[in-house]
Amino acid sequence: MNLRLRPLRLDDEAEYRAAHAELAADGFMFGFIRHGETFAEHVRRTQDLRYGRNVPAGLVESSFLLADVDGDLVGRTSIRHVLNDDLARHGGHIGYAVRPAFRRRGYASEILRQSLVIVRSYGVERVLVTCNDTNVGSAAVIEACGGALERVVPAAASDGGVAFRRYWIA
Ligand SMILES: CC(C)(COP(=O)(O)OP(=O)(O)OC[C@H]1O[C@@H](n2cnc3c(N)ncnc32)[C@H](O)[C@@H]1OP(=O)(O)O)[C@@H](O)C(=O)NCCC(=O)NCCS
Repeated sequence: MNLRLRPLRLDDEAEYRAAHAELAADGFMFGFIRHGETFAEHVRRTQDLRYGRNVPAGLVESSFLLADVDGDLVGRTSIRHVLNDDLARHGGHIGYAVRPAFRRRGYASEILRQSLVIVRSYGVERVLVTCNDTNVGSAAVIEACGGALERVVPAAASDGGVAFRRYWIA
């Protein structure tokens, strides 16, 4: 499989925005562009987060990378180099998404597999990955990458009223 994880570029804007709209229709986030932020500012902020520059309170040093297959932007990954309290409880080290038109081709599994290599390069030994309890696709992806279920956290209002699964990948 010719899937490469790579940083966001200025010429990704149209595809990035298209992917963002598709995932939003699914109730999920593709990217994290802010209201009122230009794409160039967003690319710069993404780079800053990757290098630990100007990290705002509540965020952590992290790599946002696109999954590129022969020039098609098929998905993305968000790799947190360290965890804060919220991430240690719920968000985990790695979050990923695949655009609807590219699902069921093994891309999420490959994105997670490559993301594990990257997060380990930041010294993370045990990797926390979580998903909603009802997200059978994501649970299958995590388990295919060696995830061991720690527990299912019952639904609570503070987590959006959804139960979620906590997995560790050693
Ligand atoms: C969940 C998601 C990432 C899966 O992406 P994907 O590229 O389709 O996943 P893969 O092709 O690697 O799937 C691997 C296996 O997972 C299982 N799987 C994936 N999606 C599934 C689904 N919707 N229902 C049931 N099983 C599913 C299958 O066993 C699949 O293997 P198969 O296609 O050979 O049967 C994708 O549907 C998505 O982006 N969803 C919205 C965002 C999201 O939920 N992200 C994860 C947050 S934790």
